[in-house]
Amino acid sequence: MESAEIRRRWLRFFEERGHTVVPSASLIADDPTLLLINAGMVPFKPYFLGEATPPYKRATSVQKCIRTPDIEEVGKTTRHGTFFQMCGNFSFGDYFKEGAATLAWELLTSTQDAGGYGLDPERLWITVYEDDDEAERIWRDVVGVPPERIQRLGKEENYWDMGVPGPCGPCSEVSYDRGPEFGEAGGPAVNDERYVEIWNLVFMQYVRGPGKGKDYPILGDLPQQNIDTGLGLERLAMILQGVHNMYEIDTSRAVIDKAEELTGVRYGAADHSDVSLRVVSDHMRASVMLIGDGVTPGNEGRGYVLRRIMRRAVRNMKLLGADGPVVGELVDVVIATMGEQYPELVADRKRIESVALAEEARFLKTLKAGTNVLDTAVTEARSAGSGVLPGDKAFLLHDTWGFPIDLTLEMAGEQGLTVDEDGFRRLMKEQRDRAKADAAAKKTGHADLSAYREVADAAGATEFTGYTHTDAESTVVGLLVGGVAAPAATEGDEVEVILDRTPFYAEGGGQLADTGRLRLGSGAVVEVRDVQQPVPGVSVH
Ligand code: ALA
Repeated sequence: MESAEIRRRWLRFFEERGHTVVPSASLIADDPTLLLINAGMVPFKPYFLGEATPPYKRATSVQKCIRTPDIEEVGKTTRHGTFFQMCGNFSFGDYFKEGAATLAWELLTSTQDAGGYGLDPERLWITVYEDDDEAERIWRDVVGVPPERIQRLGKEENYWDMGVPGPCGPCSEVSYDRGPEFGEAGGPAVNDERYVEIWNLVFMQYVRGPGKGKDYPILGDLPQQNIDTGLGLERLAMILQGVHNMYEIDTSRAVIDKAEELTGVRYGAADHSDVSLRVVSDHMRASVMLIGDGVTPGNEGRGYVLRRIMRRAVRNMKLLGADGPVVGELVDVVIATMGEQYPELVADRKRIESVALAEEARFLKTLKAGTNVLDTAVTEARSAGSGVLPGDKAFLLHDTWGFPIDLTLEMAGEQGLTVDEDGFRRLMKEQRDRAKADAAAKKTGHADLSAYREVADAAGATEFTGYTHTDAESTVVGLLVGGVAAPAATEGDEVEVILDRTPFYAEGGGQLADTGRLRLGSGAVVEVRDVQQPVPGVSVH
């Protein structure tokens, strides 16, 4: 069954059962606690919390999502992707555990002729939260799942929250047994590769407070008991299309095929090239979806997420032997496979292509210069009989050649070397301390000019509006913490902020810098104590 058909059936099934079909929201979350949408429930969060009244009691969607914490695993396992689509059904104070479980079972196990997905019920396993007797009883007595295929798991697996204070609750997962060729028997509690999770039903009923991981207090009940579910469209496609991993389903495989054609490397030829082909497929899909929603590559926030993903795709194409620009054709395949579900990609093709091509060109330049330096350092380390790339080389690559440390780690790793990360961090800290001392003396040293240059390359010169105005609305185009480009900052950090336009006069021409404050969209306030132009034309607050 094609991915597009999985999506159609999902929406039809729930629409026929009283759910309002809600289109996927943009990946750019309208939520200050999140950079990007990472679950289908995000657009509905105010309804769960009771902050807004939903215009419906039941809703369903297929939501674009991006998750990057496991980015290093992409291509190496069968089921880690940065971009995926989450099919969801939601109840706002309407049905609860029993409704969610019976609907899920019906859709998964009804025959394909009857509009379902036609999965063999004997291959489905259920997990419930350790003390959730009610959920276990429903699966066993109402749905009819044999008790030996229902397992109890702890908070790590079977309790869901958004990773930040907000709605949460125990959950129950449906897993599919892919068979003995995927490993030992025993259910999802012992083997999550063979028993792959496809659907998570969250019984959203509590409010969580702050804390790390699953260590947080429950502050109280939500105004009503709700349902939030998420089924991974790509995971179900993997099962229904009979392929071994997510990258081989219809929409992703097309990108692998194009990458094969562009590089002449056949999928299946070797493990390392297979990993690269899968990374290209996943990352190009993620990049196109991000650019399609208006994200542009940059050095902070979402822009940095996109830059990192795109650069990994480009570098893996190079590892496969691509010489010169290749991104244009890959973008076209992604749009061809996703355009039916997301017509805005087709309408916006020109802009998406030009953003992608510009980033590829910029990165190929950086890569060319830095790769020589890295290769020399690797050869030197080897001939000295060492398996470790020295910290000062990693620092030089970062400082002068614009190689982020994760790129150095990856590239050294590919040549069988580790990196003296402690040494690197020590040098970074020394540099930060120097920069701080300089800042304290109010004459910033700007030891690491490459970071500013990158912003200048990407965003151009800062527009100065201070001749006529003392305030302005502008966009953050660069963020540095301790002299290094950073995706985010927290309260109390000393930061350097670069804006697209500014009324602040930068020190120069014998005049002191302006001081004042920046008020950010998130509500945060940054005190501006100094403004410098370490690179001509770029004002750093
Ligand atoms: N919100 C739940 C998840 O992301 C369904 O797994």
